[in-house]
Amino acid sequence: MLHPVILSGGSGSRLWPLSRQNLPKQFLSLMGDLSLFQETVRRVGALPDVRPPVTVCSEDHRFMVGEQLQGVGSANGGILLEPMARNTAPAIALAAWHLVASDPNATLLVLPADHLIEDEAAFRDAVARAAVLAEQDWLVAFGIRPDYAETGYGYILRGDGLGEGGYRIERFVEKPDLATAERYLAEGSYAWNSGMFLFRAQRYLDELLRHAPAMLAATSDAYAAAESDLDFIRVDKESFAASPSDSIDYAVMEKTDRAAVVPVSCGWSDIGSWSSLWTVAERDEDGNRYEGDVISVDTRGSLVRASDRRMIATIGVEDLVIVDTPDATLVARKDRVQDVKAIVDKLKAAG
Ligand code: GDD
Ligand code: MG
Repeated sequence: MLHPVILSGGSGSRLWPLSRQNLPKQFLSLMGDLSLFQETVRRVGALPDVRPPVTVCSEDHRFMVGEQLQGVGSANGGILLEPMARNTAPAIALAAWHLVASDPNATLLVLPADHLIEDEAAFRDAVARAAVLAEQDWLVAFGIRPDYAETGYGYILRGDGLGEGGYRIERFVEKPDLATAERYLAEGSYAWNSGMFLFRAQRYLDELLRHAPAMLAATSDAYAAAESDLDFIRVDKESFAASPSDSIDYAVMEKTDRAAVVPVSCGWSDIGSWSSLWTVAERDEDGNRYEGDVISVDTRGSLVRASDRRMIATIGVEDLVIVDTPDATLVARKDRVQDVKAIVDKLKAAG
């Protein structure tokens, strides 16, 4: 059976000032009424033969997750609560332990809570093909055709064809430096890793035994000593704290020899920054995206988002991002929005 596992532990600090510690990116409604998390829940609900989703998130966000699941009327496969962040590999391990306990042959569809997918039919088709490969015990990633040398992504070099439109992964390189990313882009044979994965839960645990045994042991203990509280499954703090912190990309996908990739063209975006939100959003003929009460004259290529509190007016500006919230306003050049993270770090340092 296919069990969606939604990873919802990130902070999405590059969408500050809208995303905050208490309200990370995945819980925001960035494009339309539903939050990115709710869109993800809705999207997996439309898959055939699928079980209710399991969510893995921070203890701090449990009520947000519970409410947002209810908001889209989704059945709930359990909400696993992490007492502290240990990155994606242990989070997925918790879900794997949870699911093999009742379904030894569980197959996981691991999805970040904060991604956008425009062509859902293409997504569903890729999932169906990946599920066939997962049955043959492949750990399947979904490959996206790259269009610039992004250093925040994983890169996948495809090898032999495996059928179902999938390929064995020849090489998986997580977050290469800029020169390497540029080389991969020029070579033309690499795909971006989308961050979505599909594999048998038991296979994932077997890979951890081989490549990250301390993580396997810590997550096993943490799950075994978990306390259930309605839909919430609170894993044991002390055992989980003992787990090394690592992402699935470094801990498993770079190392395993059973990795496969299914290329997919589904209008995928991880909305990693304000500029990528601008890129995927609908814009007017001058290339502007306005939200809320905005008045402009001679404005081009900009994203302007007013809060309910006041109007924003712009004159003679280009390629800006302006985001107002009740207690903070961001004004940035669109090509500098990656540095929003530096602001968040400064704020954290200032307490
Ligand atoms: N539950 C839980 N716990 N979720 C987490 C944790 C954690 O400790 N850390 C991250 N997540 C969630 C995030 O909320 C996000 O939805 C997803 O896991 C991926 O984490 P990111 O931190 O956003 O990873 P990344 O963007 O640096 O890199 C990954 O995604 C890229 C594509 O967007 C990698 O898989 C890359 O290879 C990939 O290209
Ligand atoms: Mg990400």
